[in-house]
Amino acid sequence: MPKTKIAGIGHHVPENIYTNDDLTKYMETSNEWIVERTGIHERRFITKGEDTTTSLGAKAAKMACENAGIEVDEIDFIIFATLSPDYYFPGCGVLLQRELGITKTEIGALDIRNQCTGFVYGLSVADQFIQSGMYKNILLVGAEVHSVALDFSTRGRNVSVLFGDGAGAVVLQPTTEENQGVINTELHSDGTYAEELSVISPGSHSGVYNREVNYGFDEESDLGGFFITQTILDEGLFHPHMNGPLVFKKAVVKFPEVIVSALKKAGYESNDLDLLIPHQANLRISQFVQKVLKLRDDQVFNNIQRYGNTTAASIPIAMSEALIEGKLKRGDLVCLAAFGAGFTWASALFRF
Ligand code: ACO
Repeated sequence: MPKTKIAGIGHHVPENIYTNDDLTKYMETSNEWIVERTGIHERRFITKGEDTTTSLGAKAAKMACENAGIEVDEIDFIIFATLSPDYYFPGCGVLLQRELGITKTEIGALDIRNQCTGFVYGLSVADQFIQSGMYKNILLVGAEVHSVALDFSTRGRNVSVLFGDGAGAVVLQPTTEENQGVINTELHSDGTYAEELSVISPGSHSGVYNREVNYGFDEESDLGGFFITQTILDEGLFHPHMNGPLVFKKAVVKFPEVIVSALKKAGYESNDLDLLIPHQANLRISQFVQKVLKLRDDQVFNNIQRYGNTTAASIPIAMSEALIEGKLKRGDLVCLAAFGAGFTWASALFRF
């Protein structure tokens, strides 16, 4: 059975840099608060009307294909992970196909809505398709445009200072090389805390999970009248909500757990790792994980300082930068790990 190798990597981030000081023009916050709690110094935001999640993803995808030495037409399956799609539906997978100019229809496009773990979940799905022999060139993209939906007033500051826009992509192919390819992937979920990191509206819930909140539904009508209401708009219920301390508490446990488990299953210890690329949630979380696993600085790659948290895009952007900087080399033992909304958490262990 073939294994899955990462044949090419690419990324794209918008040109517009917003520093922490820039954000103080919109909300009550400070560079010191943001750096101390999150490690973030700046993030990138798209120019409104110029880019979308798909267009960022397409730029990253082209770079990944070039890096893999293939034409976009050779792609036979697309997996697109994002929480900030261009449209409610259809998903970004088909939009990416169109944007890349792939006109053949013997191709599948799958959208993944797993937020921060979307890329690792996508890698696990792709790995199954490659191992089974179903596809030979899978394009896996993680991309986000958060800036259009964040609350940049003081009300939303605990969330909005964390996130940035960007995209990353990989091309996955079969390999029979002994010292190359995905070794294992591990996926977890716990729906108990689903609303603790969420965007709840618009949606079909019509207040089912929380009847205490007044969503302003049209009580007169049996049909419709609850997808988008004036109250949802006025109260900003379409903005992300996050219980930051709970996310932090869970993340610092689940990250090390899922990494150690992946290593253990393959007969490795953290000392054997050449590179850990954690989802860039918060520098404090990554530093905590590094400490628990007793990893050296050169064993962990972080770039959240420059991009903020780009959710599904954070791992492939980091992979691409690590490759460019010579920190990710062929033959390296690499672990990807993520934790996020759901809650879901996941890891992927591979020889690059
Ligand atoms: N600037 C200034 N003050 C702020 C800001 C801000 N941007 N945001 C919140 N505060 C204030 C709060 O209003 C609160 O003030 P109060 O004490 O007067 O009420 C105070 O700071 C502390 O608020 P907390 O939310 O308790 O702050 P905490 O110390 O927990 O830090 C943070 C917040 C950084 C979000 C932290 O909880 C955290 O890192 N959580 C992990 C969440 C995370 O990383 N999410 C990433 C997305 S999810 C993922 O990718 C896994």
